[in-house]
Amino acid sequence: MSVPQPFPYQGSKRKIAQAIISLFPDQVDTLIEPFAGSGAVSIAAATHDKTRRFVLNDINAPLMALWKKILTDSESLAKQYESLWFAQQNQESDYYFYIRSEFNKTHQPHYLLYLMARCVKAAIRYNANGEFNQSPDHRRQGMHPATMRKNILLTAKLLGGKTMLLSLDYREALAQVQPLDIVYLDPPYQGVCQKQDPRYVQGLSFESFVETLHDLNSRSISYIVSYDGRTGHKTYGQTLPESLGLSYLEINAGRSSQATLLGRDSVTFESLYLSPALSVRIKHKSAAVQQLALWA
Ligand SMILES: C[S@@+](CC[C@H](N)C(=O)[O-])C[C@H]1O[C@@H](n2cnc3c(N)ncnc32)[C@H](O)[C@@H]1O
Repeated sequence: MSVPQPFPYQGSKRKIAQAIISLFPDQVDTLIEPFAGSGAVSIAAATHDKTRRFVLNDINAPLMALWKKILTDSESLAKQYESLWFAQQNQESDYYFYIRSEFNKTHQPHYLLYLMARCVKAAIRYNANGEFNQSPDHRRQGMHPATMRKNILLTAKLLGGKTMLLSLDYREALAQVQPLDIVYLDPPYQGVCQKQDPRYVQGLSFESFVETLHDLNSRSISYIVSYDGRTGHKTYGQTLPESLGLSYLEINAGRSSQATLLGRDSVTFESLYLSPALSVRIKHKSAAVQQLALWA
């Protein structure tokens, strides 16, 4: 079954989305992604008919405006992207910088789509003034318009009419969650920078994140958290406290592109934490889960 990618996005969980949705209980009302990004897990869940409704939330408002356009006006978005893509021919860099400044003035969704398709590592970066400042990837022209059209239209078909879009802090997006729902939390990557203040995950307070998970536990909410990971023997980020009572497992995400570039043979393992309420709901699936993951 073809699983679309609505736009290239650094940190997308596309590669392991299928493994993540296999941990869902049989009866799920709504899937909530408070750190939605490109919503890879929601798209996989919709493709495999795992949930009836979806909530996508991300603090990045222009990103959520792009989601709105994808879900409500996909045909015209595909046309706009196609015009930008063809207009860039033979002047790729200059055109990229022109669109980047237009995006910073107007926040138009199709400009953001073009920038994500063309920028280095599909990584959104803003400066202190909130302006998009990522450079273009000179080796690529960005996804071909025909492929982009297919991806956008299929995403709209899968999620249109059953998805609520929000642009709030993740804590507010969790206020209405119910025990029959499932939450997939994928906060910003903790990264490898040793100098980084360990209390913060790219602006997200670790304490506040843990407090939010305690609150979800007290409300018997089923959730899955992607938190740290390791490549070979190198582990990134701090682990979540035992007091949360989470089950921990690792998913083999294959060779990391960085390691392959460097000629190393290391495999990346993505860590997942399952809430106590979820572990109870999927108890009967434990044999299948054992096969899927390496329990720590
Ligand atoms: C690792 S990415 C999520 C990737 C996503 N799982 C996917 O498949 O594309 C983390 C996202 O969290 C968002 N974010 C960062 N801080 C946030 C906050 N306080 N509340 C909500 N979203 C936040 C970022 O804008 C980013 O899109």
